Formats: sequence, structure tokens, C-alpha cells
Amino acid sequence: MRIEFILNGKKVGFDTHAETRLVDLLKNSAKVQSLRTSCYKGICRGCSVLFNGDLVSSCLIPVFQARDSEIVSYEGLSKSYEIKDILSGFEDEEYFPCDYCRPGKIMTIHSILESYSDPDDNQILEAFEGINCSCTDKSTLLKAVKTGAFYRRRRRRARNI
Ligand code: FES
Ligand code: FES
Repeated sequence: MRIEFILNGKKVGFDTHAETRLVDLLKNSAKVQSLRTSCYKGICRGCSVLFNGDLVSSCLIPVFQARDSEIVSYEGLSKSYEIKDILSGFEDEEYFPCDYCRPGKIMTIHSILESYSDPDDNQILEAFEGINCSCTDKSTLLKAVKTGAFYRRRRRRARNI
């Protein structure tokens, strides 16, 4: 089948099988390099993308569901204003995820900040459930996300974007 959708602002099309997992199409045919596939069960969140604005695990989505959808990967988010808030939070709180988990964590944090302008500990930890990383203590993660939220609120107030 032919499947077309918008990927990071551009229309793309592929000949594929309906049951192919979206993550595999994105990795193998669309050459999206940020996606990680540790579990293929919707647990590890390394394959997170924005799917019509919602954060999803792309390993759980058969490509036929992606027809005419709008998908944003970490590569697309990286070109937006939004990522700057998150990176400022990382820098201020000295939170430096490794290259392996960084895209999934940033996509997750973006989703938190879009849902909650001033997220509390529970909201952050709930969103991070399943992301398996013991490299950094939780308090640093919480501070980094909250500082990112501060930057996002401030930017939106100042520039209305
Ligand atoms: S590979 Fe998709 S959530 Fe782990
Ligand atoms: S910082 Fe990447 S797995 Fe822990």
C-alpha cells in the first residue's frame, strides 16, 4: 500500500505493508535517526514521536493508521522554539542525558510542558514511567523539567509563541 503523511513539516510517501510498525518505517525508510527501539512494547519510550500533536510510542502504531497524519520526531522538534526551553532547563540544572536516551526524554518533557504549564513531581514522574535510566538522580530530572517549564512560561508570556 501507499502511505503518505507529513513528517517534520514535509509531505512524504512510501510503499509499504499496512501492518508495518510506524517506527520501522520511520527508521528504515524515512531515515529518522533519533528513534530507539529497546522494547517494541510501548514501555521504553525511545520511539516517541508526536502524532497529530500527541506523544505516542511509534512501535505501537501500524502504518495504515498514519495515513494523512502529522508526525513530528525529535529532529523536527529540534528546529522549534520549544526545544530551547527544555535545553535551558538542562543547562541550568546540569542535567545531561546520554545520546541514547536524550531524544526520547526531550520528546517526553516537551509533552509534559504542553500538558502542564507548571508540572508537579507526580506529573513529571508519571510521564517518565517506563523510561529506564539510573544515570541521574530523580531530583535533578525534576528540577530540569521545572526549570524548562519556567522558561516556556516566560517565553510564551513575552512573545506569545
Ligand atoms: S520501542 Fe517503542 S516504546 Fe520501546
Ligand atoms: S542518561 Fe541515558 S540512559 Fe541514563
